[in-house]
Amino acid sequence: MIHFYHVTKRFDQYSTALHDVTFHIEKGEFVFLTGASGAGKSTLLKLILRQIQPSDGQVVVNGRNLKSMRRSQLPFFRREIGMVFQDFKLIERMTVFENLSFILTVLGIPPREHKKRAYGALRAVSLHHKLNAYPLQLSGGEQQRIAIARALINEPLVIVADEPTGNLDPDLTQEIVQIFAEANMRGSTVLIATHDRELIEQSGRRVITLDRGRITDERVAVPQRAPRVESIFGIGG
Ligand SMILES: Nc1ncnc2c1ncn2[C@@H]1O[C@H](COP(=O)(O)OP(=O)(O)OP(=O)(O)O)[C@@H](O)[C@H]1O
Ligand SMILES: [Mg+2]
Repeated sequence: MIHFYHVTKRFDQYSTALHDVTFHIEKGEFVFLTGASGAGKSTLLKLILRQIQPSDGQVVVNGRNLKSMRRSQLPFFRREIGMVFQDFKLIERMTVFENLSFILTVLGIPPREHKKRAYGALRAVSLHHKLNAYPLQLSGGEQQRIAIARALINEPLVIVADEPTGNLDPDLTQEIVQIFAEANMRGSTVLIATHDRELIEQSGRRVITLDRGRITDERVAVPQRAPRVESIFGIGG
């Protein structure tokens, strides 16, 4: 679903954000992307969204080679992708419903379907009672969940999130990961960039680690929970 082949991204002669990065994420996977500040996480996500182009190598997303894709195809391509950024922006002078309706219009969904779609998306983040609230009447965490509902409203094939749980408390972090997990179970492929070690360690999901623009580690995080019964009784490996 997401394929990087020897991707290098140089911004200028002093700054190479990604060096020869190759990885593959298959349809239906849920993957974390981690690494220190400046490691290249946001750059990698921007390449997936084709906000920027690689200096070298190829990026293929949902069967489309982003290098040869025409500009006129870009809006159609982006409709298949749900994106969540840390500095999410809801439009303050619009209600929650109007914010969602605005996106549905951009996506080409007929107005008569907006109420139903918006309600469904808000239910998924447990905020259906806030349909008529304005963003400033909501807490930061609630606004973040609305932004996620907005990104997921079209059941996108691919969901890309850059630090979606930054600045949130641990309970809310779990709730937000759960929202992504449910979207993943409905069929979306998910890639989340995060610094949050604990979140990754607990997840049991695949992790791609970047170190100064290179992939250093690709593994599945082992949940740090109580030992499994098998290991207590010495059964199995
Ligand atoms: N537009 C740009 N022009 C020049 N250099 C850039 C640009 N964008 C990013 N970089 C550089 O590329 C490197 C990777 O940046 P990136 O934003 O991808 O890191 P990150 O892993 O997302 O970091 P953080 O965790 O702090 O968000 C950094 O050294 C950064 O300075
Ligand atoms: Mg970043």
